[in-house]
Formats: sequence, structure tokens, C-alpha cells
Amino acid sequence: MGVIFLDKLVIKGNTKLKGEVHISGAKNAAVALIPATLLIEGVCTITNVPNISDVKISCEILEQLGSKITWISNNEIIIDNTDINCTDAPLDMTSKFRASYYLIGSLLGRCGRAVVGLPGGCNLGARPIDQHIKGFEALGTKVEIAQGKISASAKNLIGTSIYMDMVSVGATINVMLASVLAKGTTIIENAAKEPHVVDVANFLNTMGADIRGAGTDVIKVNGVQKLQGNASYSVVPDQIEAGTFMLSAVATKGDITIRNCIPEHLDCLTAKIIELGANVEVDNDSIRVWTNKKINSTNIKTQPYPGFPTDLQPQMGVCLAIANGTSIIREDIWDSRFQYTAELNKMGAQITDQGKSAIFQGVKELYGAPVSASDLRAGAALIIAAIVAKGESTLTNLSHIDRGYENIEEKFRNLGANIQRISE
Ligand code: EPU
Repeated sequence: MGVIFLDKLVIKGNTKLKGEVHISGAKNAAVALIPATLLIEGVCTITNVPNISDVKISCEILEQLGSKITWISNNEIIIDNTDINCTDAPLDMTSKFRASYYLIGSLLGRCGRAVVGLPGGCNLGARPIDQHIKGFEALGTKVEIAQGKISASAKNLIGTSIYMDMVSVGATINVMLASVLAKGTTIIENAAKEPHVVDVANFLNTMGADIRGAGTDVIKVNGVQKLQGNASYSVVPDQIEAGTFMLSAVATKGDITIRNCIPEHLDCLTAKIIELGANVEVDNDSIRVWTNKKINSTNIKTQPYPGFPTDLQPQMGVCLAIANGTSIIREDIWDSRFQYTAELNKMGAQITDQGKSAIFQGVKELYGAPVSASDLRAGAALIIAAIVAKGESTLTNLSHIDRGYENIEEKFRNLGANIQRISE
């Protein structure tokens, strides 16, 4: 019988984090760039790749489709997509991996056909993909959903105008992927503006595409005949990882310099941190955050970029749990992103989850407790809370965290945290 190892983190708290941290490449860019390479009939190199489990799964799926992938260092891969011989992605892997929906746009663009496991619901609540499908159909694709999979096929992809009913990162990127090699021009209106949307456009343009306007509401894709590749591209720094460390400096009353980030991507968080009464100093590609005071309360509403990111909401929640007075967070992107509040309450927080909103009654202290990560960002938030808390905490369900943060415990340890991973 096989043995299952369940890792947990043991964190001894009451630590002020101090020092420097180097930010990795963005998870949400990397999980789109890797399938995007399917559009290249040749070789490309991607650097600053975050070494996380979502990236590894993404590479394994591509290898099953015929890609040859070589890791030339911990954060650098060469992908050779000369011989893609299959358009049916392995269902067991794709149905568990949310970002596998990018295989549909990429395989459609490359081969005119894609079969991919239907990304199921997840811990954040319902995650519909109707806008992706609306975009593919507008480009001339026949889409069928049956037996847990999406089958898409198109004789010819023809450029057209597509208006997104809501701002969606995934749908914007997916329609971009499907239209790069289409005939004519595709216009995506009400497009998402997140840094990783811009990064995918920059990557594709580096490989030979003609995409304009990424980072604005309207993206124009002029179809080209072929992507030559033969180029190298560096993944944009992860703005959510950078924000996670900025908020860990605030929560622990520490002093952290965050290196290799793009401060403009974090303008909204910087403004909020200043509102909380902490200090922020911005340099070219680094941000220093520090405070030694109890922080002020504030209200937060999550929104698409450049609004406050839902992916930093739980980490901000930890700060507000120990702020002076009462704060309210309204979550407008995902239905179930307050699950971490029940875990924080086990540590002494006083948070009332009201569905779309949560009310944070600031407490004096948090105490160590056994807690569990319900999703990736909840996991990051609970690590920060455990570093703040008096006493020892144990954190389980680490697979969520390993999906998206590279060497997270080592990075926190280098800042002074007492954190150990234990396999059982
Ligand atoms: N939506 C629809 N229909 C669609 C697509 C989206 O109704 O066809 C709705 C969603 O239900 C949601 C909103 O539109 O309410 C925005 O969803 P979006 O499509 O922007 O999210 P996503 O592309 O599925 C990405 C990130 C998430 C991040 C969101 C929002 C990746 C792989 N994932 O998801 O990242 O929370 O954008 O910024 O890029 C994370 O990293 O922890 C994470 C969950």
C-alpha cells in the first residue's frame, strides 16, 4: 500500500519580520504563457518561471500533447513545440487544474480543435466560463460540453468584435490566444487589464503576434500567419506575492524591502497601506514597507485591476483583524473567499462573515491555533496570522499554498519567521 505524506507548517509566532525578499515570476502569468507556447511552431525560452506545482502540472500536460520541455535551471525552461501531435488534453489532469482552460484557446489557435476537461467548481465558489465560450463561438468555433469535457472545433477562426459581459482575466486571455492566428482582426471590448493580461500579450508579440491595447479596456488582435518563436521571454514579477509580503510587514509591525517587483502594479495596495498608517517607500523595482504602530481600520472592496485585488483580500483581512476599530471588506469577485475568517477566529480574531461582506472588529492580539488553508491566498493569510500570533500554530492543507508560492517558508524564514515544514 502507498504511503501518503501530509505536510504541515509549524509556526512559532510573535515575530516582527525584517529584511529583504526577492519576488518570483507571476503564477497567473506563467500558467497562461506555458499553454500559449502551443501557438509557436518552434522553440522558445521562458525565464523567471516560478517553480510551483501549478507550473509543473502545466508543463506535464503540454508534454502529453507532444511538447519537449527542458528545465535549464530552477526558473528557466526551453519549450519545443515543433511536434504537437494531440489535441485531447489528459482529462484527469486538466479537470483538476483551473487554468487548463487556456489549453482551449491555444489548441484552437494551433490545431483548430481542443478537448479539455471541464474545470470544476472550486473552493472560491462557482467559476463559470461562459465568456470564454462566447468569445470562441464569436470567432467561429463549435463548442460542445458533455461528459465532463469541453470539445471545441473550428474550420477557420475569423476575427470579429467581442464584448465581454463582465471583466474576466481568463476570458480576455483565452480569446486573445484563440485570435492570434485567426484571419483578420479581433477586438475584445471590456477587456481585463491585469498585469498578467499585458504579460501574455507582450509574450505573444515577442514571438511574432500583433496585439495592441493590452492593459486598456479594448484589445485589438491582428491575426498573423505564424508565430516563429526563437526568442526568450521573462515572466513579469508576481504582484500578488509582492503584496503578500507588503501586508506581512504591516501585520507583524516589521520592516521588509521587497525586491524585483513592479511598484506601479501595487499602487492600489500602497495607497491602502498608507491609509492604515504604515510607511511605504518606492524605488525603481523595490518597495520598502514598515511600521511600529497599531494600524488604523479601513474599508476594502475587491475589484478588477487597477482596483483592490481579490487575491490580496485575505492577507489584508489579517491586518484588519488586529487594527484599531472596525473595518469592512466587501468581496465582489468570488462567492466563497471568506472561509479563512473562521480560521482567524480560532486564533482570537472577531470577524463576522456575512456572505459578500465581512466585518472585522479589531482585537489586541492573535493566539496560535491549529488551522487549515481552504485555498491558496487563505493559506498565505494564515501563515502571516501565525507569525503575528502569540504561541504556536500548525497549518495544514499546504497543497493549496504550494500551487502558487515558490519557497514560501524559506522566504519567511529569511525574514526572521520561526517556521518549519513537517511531513507526516
Ligand atoms: N466570470 C464569469 N464568466 C466567465 C468568466 C468569469 O461569470 O466566463 C466571473 C467569475 O465568476 C468572477 C469574475 O467573472 O466572478 C472574474 O473572474 P476571472 O475570469 O477574472 O477570474 P479567473 O480568470 O478565473 C484569475 C486568477 C484568479 C483571480 C481572478 C481575479 C488565474 C489562473 N486565476 O481567475 O487567481 O482571483 O483572476 O483576479 O489567473 C489566485 O491566484 O489565487 C486566483 C484565484
